[in-house]
Amino acid sequence: MTAATRPGLLVTRRLPSAVEARAARSYNVEINAADGPWAGAELVARAQGRDGLLVTVTDRLDAETIEKLPETIRIMASFSVGLDHINLDAAAKRGIVVTNTPDVLTDATADIALLLILGAARGASPGMTAIRERTWANWAPTGMLGIGITGKRLGILGMGRIGRAVAARARAFGMAIHYHNRRRLDEAAAEGAVWHETVEDLLAHSDILSVHCASTAETRGLLDARTLALLPKGAVVVNTARGDIVNDDALIAALQSGHIAAAGLDVFNNEPNIDPRYRTLPNTFLLPHLGSATLETRNAMGFRALDNLDEFFAGRRPRDQIVP
Ligand code: DGY
Repeated sequence: MTAATRPGLLVTRRLPSAVEARAARSYNVEINAADGPWAGAELVARAQGRDGLLVTVTDRLDAETIEKLPETIRIMASFSVGLDHINLDAAAKRGIVVTNTPDVLTDATADIALLLILGAARGASPGMTAIRERTWANWAPTGMLGIGITGKRLGILGMGRIGRAVAARARAFGMAIHYHNRRRLDEAAAEGAVWHETVEDLLAHSDILSVHCASTAETRGLLDARTLALLPKGAVVVNTARGDIVNDDALIAALQSGHIAAAGLDVFNNEPNIDPRYRTLPNTFLLPHLGSATLETRNAMGFRALDNLDEFFAGRRPRDQIVP
């Protein structure tokens, strides 16, 4: 393809250099060199005359923004597995194809979930604070006691690819796997994991809860005061999915009362301006949305998004087409 015939692609954030280089070979690309999220109006203005968008989780593609996109935009390839930042109905209404990047971030995200499980259960945050602030007086038989995970029940909310990868890792730590999923897994896929028909029943049987469901109208605010109260006293809550599945007031109150012993969180409502109370609680282990943050994974996500764009512009259905 010559420069004149290459499709025009707007890329809303900086991507790993190998991904940007490949994008530049196949498309007439504009990349957001400043790398800060664009507001909707700026994104719409910059999309003029382009054929496709390569977007990601920091973009807000709500109905209003999508309606204002130029007619020339025919595809939005998201550099993410989650698509809650895109109003899919509005995209479908405009006939804009939407793709995501599943599979390639499964292992990296499952690794971070295990880090959060261990970090929260074993009190890694206060331990690190004691080292950094020189308050560690001496080793004490009764000091800084965490919660052991061996033999505990791990409740997995959402047993898709990432949930299953977390289960595989947790089995190696001797945990018993319980899960809730809209669809019960067949016996081979479940590998002995105990299915709970309702979220409520799963919570009642989880010493440690790890959230892996997508953020949808059904799951937003799912972990609130009522549902968190169903967890056994002293449970640990871990979230690598989306912040809005958790009601912050309810989780913080449960962490303050001790009903929830600890929380490991990689995702938050209103990132990066998280509820400041999380920072001051000693029983939180917090990471800044690092689930997919390895160079290998981010390269794979970028290449997968470009594969989807290449397929689309070659006139074929992209492998990861979600809409329409
Ligand atoms: C995704 O892809 O949805 C993740 O949240 C980014 O790591």
